[in-house]
This record gives sequence, C-alpha cells and structure tokens, in this order.
Amino acid sequence: MASKMFNTRDKANVKWFWREYLKGKTPWIALILALIVVQGFVYQQFLVFTESGLRVIFEAGQVADLLLICGFVVLAFGMRAIVSFVVPVVSARITGAAILELRRDLIRKVVYLNQSYFDKTSSGDVILRLVSQVDGVGQFVGQTTVNALRDALTIIIVAAYLIYKSAILFFAAVVVLPIIFLVLKWVSERVRQFQTQTEDVIGNYITGIDEMTGGIRTIKMSNQEQTEIDRLSASSGAIKSLYVHLQRSQAMILPAIDMSSAFVFVLVIGGGGYMVLSDLYTLDGAAIIAFILGMVIIFDPARSLSQFFTRLQASLVLLDSLKTLNDTVGEGELDAGKEEFSADTVEIALENVSFGYHEDTLIFSDLSLLFEAGKKTAIVGSTGSGKTTILSLMSRLYEVNEGQVSFNGHDGRRFTKSSLRSQFSVVAQDVVIFNSSVADNIRYANPSASDAQVLEAAKLARIDALLIERGDSPVGPKGSQLSGGQKQRIAIARAFLNPSPVLILDEATSALDALTEKHVNEAFAELQKGKTTIVVTHKFSSVLDADKIYVLEAGRLVEEGTHDDFMQGSSLYKTMFEAQMKDEKKGPE
Ligand SMILES: Nc1ncnc2c1ncn2[C@@H]1O[C@H](COP(=O)(O)OP(=O)(O)OP(=O)(O)O)[C@@H](O)[C@H]1O
Ligand SMILES: [Mg+2]
Repeated sequence: MASKMFNTRDKANVKWFWREYLKGKTPWIALILALIVVQGFVYQQFLVFTESGLRVIFEAGQVADLLLICGFVVLAFGMRAIVSFVVPVVSARITGAAILELRRDLIRKVVYLNQSYFDKTSSGDVILRLVSQVDGVGQFVGQTTVNALRDALTIIIVAAYLIYKSAILFFAAVVVLPIIFLVLKWVSERVRQFQTQTEDVIGNYITGIDEMTGGIRTIKMSNQEQTEIDRLSASSGAIKSLYVHLQRSQAMILPAIDMSSAFVFVLVIGGGGYMVLSDLYTLDGAAIIAFILGMVIIFDPARSLSQFFTRLQASLVLLDSLKTLNDTVGEGELDAGKEEFSADTVEIALENVSFGYHEDTLIFSDLSLLFEAGKKTAIVGSTGSGKTTILSLMSRLYEVNEGQVSFNGHDGRRFTKSSLRSQFSVVAQDVVIFNSSVADNIRYANPSASDAQVLEAAKLARIDALLIERGDSPVGPKGSQLSGGQKQRIAIARAFLNPSPVLILDEATSALDALTEKHVNEAFAELQKGKTTIVVTHKFSSVLDADKIYVLEAGRLVEEGTHDDFMQGSSLYKTMFEAQMKDEKKGPE
C-alpha cells in the first residue's frame, strides 16, 4: 500500500531536493522544528490549565486560583501567537531561497539542453516547469509541510497526554482511524493521476497561448480568430474538468473525517460519562470535559493533516517533473572534460556523414564535403535539400549518426561546443530578434562592443539609419515592429560586429532589395578576406566568385565545382542558373 503513495522514485526525488536545496539550511529548519514543538506543548498545557480551572469551579476553590490559571492560559496562547508569526516568516526565507536556487539551476539546465530537446518540447512545457511547478513545490515545502508538521506534533503531544489521562478512552475513540486511512489512500491515488494529467493540459494551454500571441498576425490575416478561441477554450475546458475531478476526489476526505469524529465524540461522551458515573474509574467531570476538549483540539489539525496527504501526492508529481528536467543530459554535461578548440584559420570537413533528425529517416548518408580554410564555399540546391542542416551539423546543434565533422583535421567531438561555436559568425536563415533596442540587438553578438563599434557594424549592414532613428526604444517582442529586411540587416550587423574565422551566411540577404543587397555584399566581400566563408543561397549572383560550389539534391551531393566549371558543359547548376538569369532579364510582368 505504501509503495503506491510514495514509491522509490519519489524517495529519490525528495532526497535530491533535500540534499540540493534544504540541507544547507539545517539550522533554520531546526529552529522551525523547535518552535513547532513549543506550539504543540502550548495546547497540552492549555488542557492542563483548563482541567485545573474546571476543578476550581466545580470544587468551589479560590477566585485567585482561577485568575492565576486564566493568566497562564493567556500566556500560553501568547507564546503560540508569537510562534505562529515567527514560523511562517522563517520558513518563507528558507523556501524563498530554495526556490530561487532551484529556478537558477533549472534555467541553466534548460539553456544548455540540446537543440533536439527544443524540437520536441513545447514552450508551454518549459514555462510550466520554470514558473508554476517550481512555485508549487516551494509552497508545498514552505507552507503545507510546515503546517503539517505543526499539526502532527500537536496531535502527537495532545494524544500522548490524553493517553496518559485515560488510555482506554483514547483508544476506544480512535478505532475509526483505519477507515480514514483507506479513504486517504484511495483519494491519494486519484489525486496523483489527475495531477499528472492536469500538468499536461496546462502545458498545452500555455503553449497554445504562446502560439496565439506569436502568430496573431497570421491569425488575423487568415481570419482564424474563432479557431484560436475554440482551440484555447478546448484546452481550458480540459483543465476545468480535471480540476472538478480533482476537487471532487479531495472533497471525499473531510466528510469521512467529520463522520468519524461524530462517532468518536459519541464514544467519548457515552463511554466517558459512564466512566465518571461508575465507581470502577477515578475520572471526574472536569477530566472528561478536558478530555473532550483534547479530542476537539486534535480533530482540527487532523482535518488539515489529512489534506496534507493529497497535497503531498500532487507535489510529488510536480517534483518528479522537475527532477526529470534536471536529469536530462544537456550540452554542458556532454562538454565536460573536452578540449578547447582554438586556431587562426579553420578548415571544416564533413567526412562520410550520415544524419537524420529521426532515426528512421536519414537526410544524409555517406556525405563528404570540404570547406577549405580562407576560401569561399557555396552550397546551392532546392528547398529542403539539407543545406541548413549541414550548417547545424557544423555548429554541432545536432550530432552526426555516422562519420564525423572535423575541424583542421580533428573530430569536432573532441572539443567543447562553445569553443567551436566561438569560431563562427552566423547570419542564420531564421533571424531572432529580442525585445530591446536596435543597438542592443546588434550588440548581442559581442556584448563588450563599444557604441562606436556597434554603429560601424550597423553602417556596413546598412541599418545605421534605423539604429539612430529608434534610439533606445525596444523593437517589440521577437522584433514585431520591424520589417523582414530590417531584422535581417540586424542579423548581418551582428556578423560584422563579431567577426570570427568562419563566416556562415544562410540566405543572409534573401529579404533585401537588389540595391541594398549589392551594398551589403560588397561589405561582406571585404569581411570575407582570409576567412573560411560558407554561403548558402538560392541567388546565383552571390556564388559567382565562390572557390567551390556544392550542388545538393535531396541530401545528396550531385555536383561540385566552380561557376566557370559548371558553365562549360551541361549541369544541373547551369540549368538552374540559366533559369534564374532568364527570369531576371524578363523582370516583373
Ligand atoms: N528540426 C528538424 N526536425 C526534423 N526535421 C527537420 C528539422 N529541420 C529540418 N528538417 C527536415 O530536414 C530536411 C532538410 O531541411 P533543411 O532546413 O536543411 O533544408 P534547406 O536545404 O535549408 O531548405 P531551404 O532552402 O528551404 O532553407 C527537410 O526535409 C526538413 O523538413
Ligand atoms: Mg535552409
């Protein structure tokens, strides 16, 4: 039975959380525990005073005694009040710190995860973990657990006192416990199941919102508002129905406890009354009233403690999800112990490479390409033929299945990814712009660059006018306030700002008008001198001067040579080239 409510995985997860985020705070945790014990004893003392007070009343004692007892009661509860303030304050500090550390660790983890992780994982899943699941675990540790400990200790201390007063009466009263346990077990299993599903649907919902805000332009242009409303409403509906199920299961607990408590009180009043009336027992009326009061004191914490178990199940689900993320092996771990790559000139070669994004479908098999140091190599080929994938393999966003990508003759896997990537300046096909100023976006490539350097790079990329005009104002989420060509020119400026031995241009000028393109290409020609340049393009005008051109077709290398070589005889290249020239001469119809 216990195995299902708290399995070995849960045990390992809790150990991990304790070791990483709580153990260092042991003194503070000890303080909390000590205060909680004080709190428990206050209740027990209250019972002692009450019983004495009742006896004073029943047995016509001194009013002064009564006042003294009242004074003690006030004192006892005053203590409890102070503790009630200090405990949450201290526990908030502990959990606040633990959660901050956990968030930092997970953020670091996520950022260093492999590209392939993000191909499969939706933004909602990541957001869910970093935002609400971390919070959920924190609240559970800082509030739920602390309260549960307080409740448990109060129950134990008061129960021990009641057993001391009358063991028979106490054990007669708690015969209902097994029933409560069965209900708890049943509810716990259901809560766990619903919580797992709830996390999934909330993840979907967040992803949906993210896609909606990111794609709002397309949604509006294609009149798909209603589709989005339906889609997000369906997600919300799923959350609602799970929520109702979850609450309904949890709601089973309190009635079970309340019914049991009725049973208990009947036993205590009936049995206790009988004990007072009977000559066989030494209990008096004051003792029974104090006993009943003790049971009342126990029941309240017992009610909340019972809910602790369902909260525990829900939190174990969250903890497991976070631990799974924490255990995912990322680039940082894979890089441990690797060499740093450094060189003035870089020659890159794909040697007999096989690769597929999925194991069952290979994009390349036995592909070999050489990118000579200091030369300009171009890759042309139809859309989807694998050009961008080649660049991804070079920067080791993905690892090859077979063969190797070598750098100056050494297998790239010998080196840390960061040292390899620092060799590249890349203008990628999909430009990523952040919601900050144009200057900051350019500076992203080289955070230590001066304003003058940023402006110089902007000039070369022909984006200086925009940089000056927009000043410090941010360019909107994902650069939504910029035109496609402006975004692309920012990406180009980044390459100028941080020139590295290898320059990679993936459709770098596809969004520019012919004149701007001409200027940018001239600047590139200057930048390329002495660098290993790799150009991927559909525009043949950019490859005329390449030292070598590879023609790719569906992942296969079909031709290699220079523009002049290809134009000699008949080639796929020549056919494509001539088709493009004809179109350009014809111009717009
Ligand atoms: N992350 C990915 N996961 C799975 N498949 C992918 C992924 N990225 C690309 N592909 C697939 O790999 C193939 C090659 O894609 P790639 O982006 O390399 O083409 P490309 O030659 O750059 O095309 P284009 O000229 O349109 O940019 C395509 O069939 C594409 O669908
Ligand atoms: Mg591409």
